[in-house]
Amino acid sequence: MFVMTPHYHHTLGKLKSIMRGSESKSINQELNRFFAKHASLNILDIGSGDMSNAYSLSESFSHDKQISIDAVDIYFPDSPFTFRKNVHIERIVGDFNNVELKPLYDLIYCRQSLYYLGDVHAALSKMRGLLKDDGLICIVIWDKSCVLRQLCMCLEETNPASSLTGEVVEHISSDLCFSVSKDLFVSEINFDTQYDTEDNLLSLAKLVSRRGEKTKFVTDKFRELVRNSQPGRRANAILYLKKTSFENKAY
Ligand SMILES: C[S@@+](CC[C@H](N)C(=O)[O-])C[C@H]1O[C@@H](n2cnc3c(N)ncnc32)[C@H](O)[C@@H]1O
Repeated sequence: MFVMTPHYHHTLGKLKSIMRGSESKSINQELNRFFAKHASLNILDIGSGDMSNAYSLSESFSHDKQISIDAVDIYFPDSPFTFRKNVHIERIVGDFNNVELKPLYDLIYCRQSLYYLGDVHAALSKMRGLLKDDGLICIVIWDKSCVLRQLCMCLEETNPASSLTGEVVEHISSDLCFSVSKDLFVSEINFDTQYDTEDNLLSLAKLVSRRGEKTKFVTDKFRELVRNSQPGRRANAILYLKKTSFENKAY
């Protein structure tokens, strides 16, 4: 299984900063609608990273809601976020597959981390077991058309983060029949930063994909993607699952 290192995190952060526009308000709005009547919420955030999603989600809820967030990650980078008093955060360091958690979550949020959990069936099955009967699972994953994904695929055919995506989205959405929506972010690659050349972008992406050398063809394909008319197009598929989605399924 691919293990993310602090170096990978740092590099991915740089690449994301070049491709602006990854923030999504629509997910928070959807989750706010779903949990409007809850006075308190137990949330599991799988692969929380720097806690930016957990923070923006908790801020988007009404501030009188009592919120408890269990954040599971194999590695927590420094986080600049200070949560308000009635948001309780528990950081649990470990692989989601192996950590012991109580089955009491209203919301299980798995944003851009499903790729790294190994066996997708096993991960979904564990999520199902941890969800309250009236709870919701929200999975955010690169859509096939995401240029950031395509850039990574140019550099590493076997990168699980990119190659799994289309297959997982299609399989889960046809098998589990839950609601699927797509978020598209279209923005120019921001060459105003210090990583301001195509070559710098290429070397960053190589680092992220953990591949130093690549054939000329793939490098050319990468350059073509960077230059094409919508270079900053990012696309996420957002998958919402209820417990009933799993009925009679082998998860
Ligand atoms: C691409 S980042 C996404 C971070 C954050 N959720 C976001 O959307 O910005 C993937 C995260 O999954 C974490 N991760 C990778 N493998 C994991 C595992 N087996 N169990 C828990 N977290 C894991 C990584 O450390 C990383 O923080």
